[in-house]
Amino acid sequence: MTRYLLAGAFALGLSAGVAGPANAQSTADPAMNAPDQVAWQFFIQANSRAGGSNSVFETWASDTDTFQPNPQFPTAPTPPSLRRPVLPQVAREGVEAAGGLLPALPPGISDGVTEETRRNKAAFDFIVQNNLYKVSGLKAAFGKSLSFPIDSIEVKANWMPVSAIPAFTNNRVTVAQVPQLYHVNSAGGVQYAMVAMHVISKAVPNWTWATFEHSLNPSRCDILGCRDAFGAQQPFVPSNRAAGQGYPNCAKTPALTAMLNGADIDPVYQNYCLKGSQSDFVDNTGLDIRVGNSVTEEGFVATASCMTCHGRAVWNKNGQPTSQAGFLSFGPNGPIGPLGPLLPTWYWSFTSQPPIFQGKSGLTRTATSADFVWSIPFCAIDDTQTPVQQSNCAGK
Ligand code: HEC
Repeated sequence: MTRYLLAGAFALGLSAGVAGPANAQSTADPAMNAPDQVAWQFFIQANSRAGGSNSVFETWASDTDTFQPNPQFPTAPTPPSLRRPVLPQVAREGVEAAGGLLPALPPGISDGVTEETRRNKAAFDFIVQNNLYKVSGLKAAFGKSLSFPIDSIEVKANWMPVSAIPAFTNNRVTVAQVPQLYHVNSAGGVQYAMVAMHVISKAVPNWTWATFEHSLNPSRCDILGCRDAFGAQQPFVPSNRAAGQGYPNCAKTPALTAMLNGADIDPVYQNYCLKGSQSDFVDNTGLDIRVGNSVTEEGFVATASCMTCHGRAVWNKNGQPTSQAGFLSFGPNGPIGPLGPLLPTWYWSFTSQPPIFQGKSGLTRTATSADFVWSIPFCAIDDTQTPVQQSNCAGK
């Protein structure tokens, strides 16, 4: 059923029931022309009620459900499938290796934050039907052009133990208040509060990209500011000069309030803010577009570009992430901006040095694109080894 809700996003211009700015209502291409509005629609779709205190995304397949010898789409909501975040640690090592200074960590982020990925049935089926959950399948798909179906949605959520939230928010809430203000679920007997969520959808060929944060996250708008042209009364909130101080609640516009009130969604979700969305690699003046979440991309927000980093999700003819295209090369120049000429050896090898043009003789394909879905090369089980090598991404 949830798959068909997506039609709402495409029919934005036609649907009389959707509140929003006139230009967004009448546009034929809302994902490109009204990306923040579409971001909220997908957020609401992923977080609508799904029975009990569960949200729709909790009925979707986790990485643990997907990347295993016999992938199964769950038949009921499942508890958070939590693991240690992979990226921040890798990023910090990269920044250090590049001689960069590490920003001080806000309290609580390093200890206790966990994450999970979930994908809807359309995205899950695409991965399974194309055998993209295992290295043998990646080898077989090498050189192919893969594109997820347009109703695919994936989220990555970050959770912290409820008990850690008071310290994390500089004591703006007590433990007792957390369930009234956060989406909460339990895993392994521990109550967790959701503090951040990435939402991507295949509504456009290069996916829609958006990231949400709980309004009380202490570093929510640090470094890049917060941008929400649809749902926030203040469309751009600049960064504080000092890190980790917190920001005023993202007071919602009447249009977003109407959208939330019209949805079957737990009121706790009113406490989340759109941090930003991304529709391209660069803006129309050639500047690199940066979007990063203070929790999920903690430590490398300044050089975070959802699209550029995910555009590097590739594998080689052996079904392995390539070293060049690995996400390990962080640093002051970060993986931001176009996939293009500065990184000529991304997908191709050449017989001569740049400048390089498409169609040049000696062009050899070295990597296959995972259609921006990092979990494919990163989480695939290695069934070419005996015994089969487990996924990097299984929940604990
Ligand atoms: C520097 C690289 C990098 C940046 C920047 C980045 N991601 Fe990711 N992302 C990853 C990697 C690697 C994974 C898979 C491992 C994991 O889950 O951490 C991933 C996983 C995801 C997933 C789960 C589906 C998938 O592709 O595996 C979503 C959804 C996602 N990211 C969205 C975003 C959004 C939205 C942004 C920007 C706000 C973003 N990412 C920024 C590297 C990055």
